[in-house]
Amino acid sequence: STGTPDILSAEFAADPYGAYAVLREEAPLLWHEGMQSYIVSRYEDVERVFKDQVFTTANYDWQLEPVHGKTILQLSGREHSVRRALVAPAFRGSELEQKFLPVIESNARELIDGFRGRGTADLVEEFATRFPIGVIVDMLGLDKADHARFQKWYTSIIAFLGNLSQDPDVTASGLRTKEEFAEYMIPIVRARRENPGDDLLSTLVTAEIDGETMSDEDVKAFCSLLLAAGGETTDKAIGSLFALLLQHPEQLQAVRDDRTLIPQAFAETLRFAPPVHMIMRQPAEDVEIGGGTVPAGSTLTALIGAANRDERRYKNPDAFDIFRDDLNAKNAFSAAADHMAFALGRHFCVGALLAKSEIEVGVNQLLDALPNLRLADGHTPAEKGVFTRGQAALPVVFDA
Ligand code: HEM
Repeated sequence: STGTPDILSAEFAADPYGAYAVLREEAPLLWHEGMQSYIVSRYEDVERVFKDQVFTTANYDWQLEPVHGKTILQLSGREHSVRRALVAPAFRGSELEQKFLPVIESNARELIDGFRGRGTADLVEEFATRFPIGVIVDMLGLDKADHARFQKWYTSIIAFLGNLSQDPDVTASGLRTKEEFAEYMIPIVRARRENPGDDLLSTLVTAEIDGETMSDEDVKAFCSLLLAAGGETTDKAIGSLFALLLQHPEQLQAVRDDRTLIPQAFAETLRFAPPVHMIMRQPAEDVEIGGGTVPAGSTLTALIGAANRDERRYKNPDAFDIFRDDLNAKNAFSAAADHMAFALGRHFCVGALLAKSEIEVGVNQLLDALPNLRLADGHTPAEKGVFTRGQAALPVVFDA
């Protein structure tokens, strides 16, 4: 209807938060013709979309299949729970800390060593976009020499998934990546089956529950998902966290002085500026939500970015405040999270604790290595993106 904000417009992309407020207030359930999707924006509705199993991920198939193959994101019911149980143990807090903390630390250190002597850096280009991919590649036990290829594949997959304007070159590159990735990975997966080691890939190929295991193709698809799901999200979270802290110097100072505040600062970043703004589901039957009916089989978009700013849920939701008392940092990385950035329910982010470890290590090391960290003169941080949002660049200066 007239006056209803258009999610696919340039105004929206520049600043969605005002539009989200209008949607929450005036159109809690909206049909969007261009997206061919219903949309909900209030916290309680978004939460229900994630938790109520009437909403499935069946409609992910057409989007994810062409680049990844079949991943757990596309599965539901028992098929999903078995697959999830096969992969989840490797991402538990204790497992991560014992096995992978050194890998996380060395990846952060190597990147920071590349610019710490210089006094200037782009924290997005030189740190955020490289760090999570490096961690995943090392965790899987793949060859460090192939980092550049992973970076290229990752960029191509992300572009494919965000290709709203259907640019044919982007589509072709995404489809090519699926082939190249399979040619690279399948022989490695087979070799790891023959000769398992101590890495995540070996854990995946040997995982077994009630006699069920993952095929070579399953493992390859999951690794491809890890690159995209674990790379782009954490990348954007790091950029947003630093952009927000640098714009709130008293909160930055508080974190610098007391590093136990890092999880809290990360949780508030995830609420205030979530990397993933929209998630889609498909109701298996007609559902009443947001004051209307969503028919079985249609597409329903849950606006994470809008739910996380809902004044019905948070006091002063448009203020970035790591000390707010309506967001519990102790729960923020578990299925009891009181923000929507990792979704909730059965597809709740498998990598939430890994992301937390990466952020803790990355922020600690950056603050140690970069005294007097501040934004470069003339740079005003700005979010970009629609389905996913983050800083395109973050030029900073510091005492070398
Ligand atoms: C699922 C966000 C980091 C792996 C999800 C979902 C969201 C999300 C919103 C749910 C998608 C849906 O239900 O449709 C984030 C954010 C991250 C992050 C904001 C960082 C700040 C990671 C990392 C990894 C990872 C580091 C692993 C390396 C996954 C996987 C799923 C998932 C495998 C699918 C779970 C399932 O279908 O059961 N994530 N993620 N994520 N995430 Fe993350």
